[in-house]
Amino acid sequence: MSKIYSRLEKCYNCFKSKINFTPDIALVLGSGLGDYADGIEIEAALPYSEIEDFPISTVAGHKGRFVFGTVNGVKVVIMQGRVHYYEGYKMEDVVLPIRLMKMMGAKILFLTNAAGGVNFDYHAGDFMLISDQICMAPSPLIGENADELGVRFPDMSNIYNSELRTVVRDTAKKIGVPLQEGVYIQLTGPNYESPAEIRMVRTLGADAVGMSTACEAIAANHAGMKVVGISCISNMACGITDKPLTHAEVQETADRAAPLFKKLITESLTELNGTLTK
Ligand code: HPA
Repeated sequence: MSKIYSRLEKCYNCFKSKINFTPDIALVLGSGLGDYADGIEIEAALPYSEIEDFPISTVAGHKGRFVFGTVNGVKVVIMQGRVHYYEGYKMEDVVLPIRLMKMMGAKILFLTNAAGGVNFDYHAGDFMLISDQICMAPSPLIGENADELGVRFPDMSNIYNSELRTVVRDTAKKIGVPLQEGVYIQLTGPNYESPAEIRMVRTLGADAVGMSTACEAIAANHAGMKVVGISCISNMACGITDKPLTHAEVQETADRAAPLFKKLITESLTELNGTLTK
């Protein structure tokens, strides 16, 4: 058995001994969305600190627990607080929760984040459906392959599942939420980018930039989960305006956009769940 899988099994057994719940959809909450999990029909919660061998987040504002429950009858596991590469964790640790949620039974991974707008047509407060990604952080699959989860050289041609993207696009239209669609690039952070770096990533084809998500999407895709992702454009990226970037600004815009973001997530969950029973 691979080392990764035996560690996952330890986490999974710990989960199983405490929680009796099988989620269909896994949801990862980005900045500003942390309290979404508090508003669902909660059936159980499991602090990360109670899971043996689980990586713990250090960023202020991240609660750090799995919440299990239903949203309009859809069985979800929610990561309230994610682990970031810039905190110093190994990539294997960063994606462990994703793999664990797959083992719990989740078939769809719904990723959310706050991101800087690179595309000149975007505005702070916009939402962007992630169509594809560029991962400039190290691949989470480097090292021994967890053969139990997926193949050594996994295909990445449809990371953000096209059927699920259509579902979210249609949902946004139905509820009247404007939705951009574009390419997300993950850099390591934790520093925001320089103006030259933003020009570079725009040339590379990125529409939004952030410090999470792409590695999680790779691990999920490797393990056979269907992935869908939405960014909240919390600020225009460095150099587009001449105002220096601050975490406070990012947080503030993400907080302001949160009510609409939550509505989009709730409505999308219902429709996404519909694709599982077809
Ligand atoms: N750059 C990187 N990550 C981010 C940004 C940004 O401008 N905004 C929110 N997360």
